[in-house]
Amino acid sequence: MPVDISIPRYHKNLYSTTAILDPYPHYEALRTAGPVVWLQRHRVYAISRYADCKAVLLDDETFISGKGVSLNPIANRLGRGTTLNSDGAEHATKRSVLAHRLTPKALRKMTDTVEHFAEDVVDRAVKKTRVDGVGDLATALPLSVVPDLIGWPADGRDELLRWAGATFDSMGPINRHSVGATKATAEMLAFAHRVARHRSALDGSMSRDVFQAADEGKIDNKSCPALMIDYLAPSLDTTIGAISSALYLFSQYPEQWQAVRSDPDLIPNAVNEVVRVESPLRAFTRTAARDADVGGVKISRGSRVLVIYASANRDPAEWERPDSFDITRDAARQLGFGSGVHGCAGQGLARLETTSILRALAGRVDRIELAGEPKWTVNNIIHRLEHLPLELVRADGTAA
Ligand code: HEM
Repeated sequence: MPVDISIPRYHKNLYSTTAILDPYPHYEALRTAGPVVWLQRHRVYAISRYADCKAVLLDDETFISGKGVSLNPIANRLGRGTTLNSDGAEHATKRSVLAHRLTPKALRKMTDTVEHFAEDVVDRAVKKTRVDGVGDLATALPLSVVPDLIGWPADGRDELLRWAGATFDSMGPINRHSVGATKATAEMLAFAHRVARHRSALDGSMSRDVFQAADEGKIDNKSCPALMIDYLAPSLDTTIGAISSALYLFSQYPEQWQAVRSDPDLIPNAVNEVVRVESPLRAFTRTAARDADVGGVKISRGSRVLVIYASANRDPAEWERPDSFDITRDAARQLGFGSGVHGCAGQGLARLETTSILRALAGRVDRIELAGEPKWTVNNIIHRLEHLPLELVRADGTAA
């Protein structure tokens, strides 16, 4: 497809390891260059400004997901059959099979369990002098809550984190990271196929709803494995990212941790602000189903656009002091959970998990201090910490 020569071009690689670890100068350059910028390396139009990202996400008739939301054709083919990669009536049907499990009403029933679990995790962590904010605090809850909900069998859990991370990595452009992730992605899909074939998911679980919908002819039998992965894969790294980034940000802004300790009702908005500043999911794509306009720039039918949530969330045209963490700002309109019909179906649960950990910590820990160099994961799609050395200091000044 010919690229309109009046559209600015960007020649740098947005998915090199260096750019993955520090994407912000690239996002700034894209936002400055224009509402639509052709990424020469990735053969896609970048949408990086808040208003344009939001407009694209809300116009799901023009900007469709059915041709895949990944940056490469292999992942787009493998992702067929999911809620994430479908449109219109098909999307509504698929979303209805499982989304009812995660409504505010359904989540209220889970709240006590998740909160108790969070307290256990925090109690165990505060007994140690030094903790890894990722391994000791951020991972346990996501790694247990959603696999239980999905009914993922016990023998497939050891590899889950590796598989889920690889599933995201494989959705980037064809590069070292996505190619390296192919094997693990295929393993996860093969495992899900086996579970669907043997109907071996736990009783009463979301997977049972999927099988029932297939038995009733509501969805295609072939979609079962994809629909299970649809909820499981995005539930882990994203939430681990939100929890660990929250810990990191509070270690950097101790006065805001004191504010949270004095008034834990600030926590829900703090979660929005964490997801705004350190958006766990960098960007997904859409395809223009007809000729379209983004911020006054014409895009022709069939073009693929990259919606960069993480850039929108730091757009100075939308946010004052966009790079600062401020839990008192109104962060509810951040785009880190997406927006419109494909807006995150699991965000209520992610918020519940993150809030529960922060609440449990606020009741026990006076200061969260960095005790070493944080290490960020290298992944095409996911932005999260891999290790976060911390010291949790109790109100009496002793290490917790
Ligand atoms: C902090 C944690 C999370 C973040 C930042 C996040 C982010 C997102 C984003 C940006 C989208 C929109 C994708 C698009 O625009 O195409 C999305 C969709 C989705 N998320 Fe999440 N997510 C999180 C947690 C979860 C959890 C815990 C689950 C499952 C329990 C989940 C399940 C889904 C599903 C099924 C979709 C597809 C919805 C659809 O296409 O209708 N997510 N998520």
